[in-house]
Amino acid sequence: MNILVTGCAGFIGSSLTQRLLNEDYRVIGIDNFDPFYPKALKEKNLKALLYHPCFTFYEADITEPDCFSVIKDNINCVVHLAAKAGVRPSIDFPSDYTKNNIFGTQNLLNWMVLKGIHKYIFASSSSVYGNSLTVPFKETQDVNETISPYAFTKKSGEILNYTYHHLYNIDIVNLRLFTVYGPKQRPDLAIRKFTDLIYSDKPVTLYGDGTSSRDYTFIDDIVEGIISSVRLVSKSNDFFEIINLGSNHPITLIEMVNVISDAVGKKPEIIFNKMQPGDVSRTYADITKAGRLLSYSPRTPFKEGITKFVEWYFAQN
Ligand SMILES: NC(=O)c1ccc[n+]([C@@H]2O[C@H](COP(=O)([O-])OP(=O)(O)OC[C@H]3O[C@@H](n4cnc5c(N)ncnc54)[C@H](O)[C@@H]3O)[C@@H](O)[C@H]2O)c1
Repeated sequence: MNILVTGCAGFIGSSLTQRLLNEDYRVIGIDNFDPFYPKALKEKNLKALLYHPCFTFYEADITEPDCFSVIKDNINCVVHLAAKAGVRPSIDFPSDYTKNNIFGTQNLLNWMVLKGIHKYIFASSSSVYGNSLTVPFKETQDVNETISPYAFTKKSGEILNYTYHHLYNIDIVNLRLFTVYGPKQRPDLAIRKFTDLIYSDKPVTLYGDGTSSRDYTFIDDIVEGIISSVRLVSKSNDFFEIINLGSNHPITLIEMVNVISDAVGKKPEIIFNKMQPGDVSRTYADITKAGRLLSYSPRTPFKEGITKFVEWYFAQN
């Protein structure tokens, strides 16, 4: 089975690609090395994959009209991860997010229609729930109050996908991913930033009073959920679903810092600052639907995941 993975050089994309190759899928990957974080880190992510005989990589920008014409293989399913990620920078550069995450997604869908590709997984985000007070977050609740341009683009992507499902019979799973962490994690994300600071004896600044919380989800559990989604769309017809992939176990900011500092073996000085615009107070996934449709059951408790992350981090430094 041939899978196109967009954003294959990124954190989730490279982890997913590795696992797909281990499971004997053939992977065609696209990435433009978006400058959101250093190209060198993405090249490192790709290095282990490039030698695999069942992996083909194309450096291409999904917002460019003809970018998919390089792909000569028959594609059975698309996993669309390419996006500008990150909440805070989306406030400074909203149009870049709209271009990449909405226009880029539409460009991909148009190409899929042209090629008759009917199976598709989209990486949405827990950020679409905004500052919802209803917890845990359920796929059925309203998500009309997004509080960052990034979240807006993800919610728009889900709607755009529905339109293509309706018009062109594309079978789709929209996965709302909840703060993914683990080896190769993006450098802009808190766990990696805090590990850097704690490791180098620098103070850690927390936005808010430390009680905000996130439903951190370990990369291997997310990859498992994506692969189950590929299997599900592959055997389904007239299928469109939105599914949370989280851990159903929120961790407060202060708890997160403590777990990292235990794993690193150093206690940081903590500075408290006010909450940043666009940041939500909590995320908390109801994963009943993922359990029912994908047999999803996250296996990695937070402490164990952080231990694995910190081991990987030490090996890099
Ligand atoms: N990491 C998380 O916690 C998280 C949570 C929710 C949703 N997501 C979503 O999952 C996906 C993957 O996230 P990630 O953490 O691996 O991010 P990442 O930045 O590491 O990976 C995204 C990849 O997409 C590529 N890309 C961006 N724009 C592109 C374009 N125009 N053309 C081709 N490639 C392009 C980037 O170069 C990058 O390698 C994203 O869609 C993100 O919004 C991530």
